[in-house]
Amino acid sequence: MKKNRLDFMKMKQGKEPITMVTAYDFPSAVHAESAGVDMILVGDSLGMVVLGYDSTIPVTVEDMIHHTKAVKRGANRTFIVTDMPFMSYHISTSDTLRNAMRIMQEGGADCVKIEGADVTDKIKLLTNGGIPVIGHLGLTPQSVNVLGGYKVQGKDMEKAKELIEDAKRIQDAGAIALVLECVPQQLAELITAQLEIPIIGIGAGINTDGQVLVYHDLIGYQLGKVPKFVKQYSSVANIIVESLKEYVDDVKARAFPDESHSFNMKIDEKLSIYR
Ligand code: KIV
Ligand code: NA
Repeated sequence: MKKNRLDFMKMKQGKEPITMVTAYDFPSAVHAESAGVDMILVGDSLGMVVLGYDSTIPVTVEDMIHHTKAVKRGANRTFIVTDMPFMSYHISTSDTLRNAMRIMQEGGADCVKIEGADVTDKIKLLTNGGIPVIGHLGLTPQSVNVLGGYKVQGKDMEKAKELIEDAKRIQDAGAIALVLECVPQQLAELITAQLEIPIIGIGAGINTDGQVLVYHDLIGYQLGKVPKFVKQYSSVANIIVESLKEYVDDVKARAFPDESHSFNMKIDEKLSIYR
């Protein structure tokens, strides 16, 4: 059965960790649902791990809808959260509503996620329209150019206090949960204890109500380094590249396809004349 916001509230109250992973297409969605995650995030990290951009800024509403549709087809029984991409909830209230509506109606998302502290009016607006919203504080990648890089947030006391206040305002505005990215674990623990809504952490330590990781980071789908907060459970990129290399070698050596991968027919006289 697909979980909803009340289930996630109960999980927080019962201290059962909430599991979330990103997915961007049909196969990754099938994998996530098969593994039994509580929620799937169609993250705008799509831009970096799937589309090859160097930030999330080029990602469009169109991109998010396209990929949410594919995820929905692969994970029909899992709660799907889709990121509203860069600037799709800043320009005007009507643009904000229309973009979120399309992500829900056309994409099939169950909820949207928006970044930053100064979005409480947008959270109220969307919630009033029947669209559940998850907030996102700490490191907010859509603001990478304002923050000046992908760095841990809320390390000093003043910034930490600000984050706590922001988190409360996001809860008061009606958000159903909050993602905290790259903040000291002590701060994440404090916010988790102070808020009623579930706090989903990434790079926020063990004491949040749940965890989220990027699919590609978690399984090692990419060659190269991952951030400190990522635990890589496998390195499938190596398996993929090795497999492709073997295929190339086989074809070059005429070792593939062999008999077991080929079809046969009886050659009668008619075909023989073409030999
Ligand atoms: O886009 C994304 O993958 C995210 C998670 C890192 C929380 O927003
Ligand atoms: Na995101």
